[in-house]
Amino acid sequence: MSDEVNAMFSSIAARYDRANNILSLGVHHRWRSITVKESGVSEGMNVLDCATGTGDLAIAFKKSVGVRGHVVGVDFNDDMIALAKDKAHANGLEIRYHAADVMKLPFADDVFDITSIAFGIRNVDDMMQGLREMARVTKSGGVVAILEFGQPGGIIGVGYRLYCRWIMPGLGSVITGNKKAYQYLPETASRFPSGEEFVQRMEAAAVFSSIKLRMLTHGIAWIYLGTVR
Ligand SMILES: C[S@@+](CC[C@H](N)C(=O)[O-])C[C@H]1O[C@@H](n2cnc3c(N)ncnc32)[C@H](O)[C@@H]1O
Repeated sequence: MSDEVNAMFSSIAARYDRANNILSLGVHHRWRSITVKESGVSEGMNVLDCATGTGDLAIAFKKSVGVRGHVVGVDFNDDMIALAKDKAHANGLEIRYHAADVMKLPFADDVFDITSIAFGIRNVDDMMQGLREMARVTKSGGVVAILEFGQPGGIIGVGYRLYCRWIMPGLGSVITGNKKAYQYLPETASRFPSGEEFVQRMEAAAVFSSIKLRMLTHGIAWIYLGTVR
């Protein structure tokens, strides 16, 4: 599965940002800003962004931790990492990037104040292992911040499901040339346990002393914040 996901992200990497901007009408930037704010980050902190992709969340964290703080981004896809490096450089920001799998992070225990993952946890083959790894490399009392899609209810949910089924694959295909990727993304999002259900998974990982959640845009996305034991 990981190899397929990796190949899929390689095929859309160059157009990934453009697709995000068009398909979410730019809302994804606001979701990331809220995630950074809710994480409790402050100047001088050490942050790890997992499944960093083209690095938008890592950049948002770097702007908060300043020159005294450090941000590291990891992703198992080399094409995404290359784009993330270019973007950080173009923004004049010093962020270190490494190729690594979330399920086996190449860091010692208790290194980071905050470890984040945006729209990545649902792609990780063994989600529980991913959660435990993120907690392992985070200091006790530090925060694992997760931003992920959910399933909005009510009339908004009906419209959203129609959009995901009939518009997103076609539009994604026009922008990136890969229709399957933009069928896979909403399909995995629709199956992903969100809200209280995901909180239960985090509890089952037995690595957090407390967990908070925040719904975004009627449940199209959620933020989960786990304080590490
Ligand atoms: C939908 S993108 C999200 C990228 C970025 N975090 C964002 O918010 O735009 C998912 C990313 O997760 C990465 N990924 C998926 N599974 C992974 C794993 N097990 N370890 C590391 N990266 C992974 C993919 O390569 C891809 O770049």
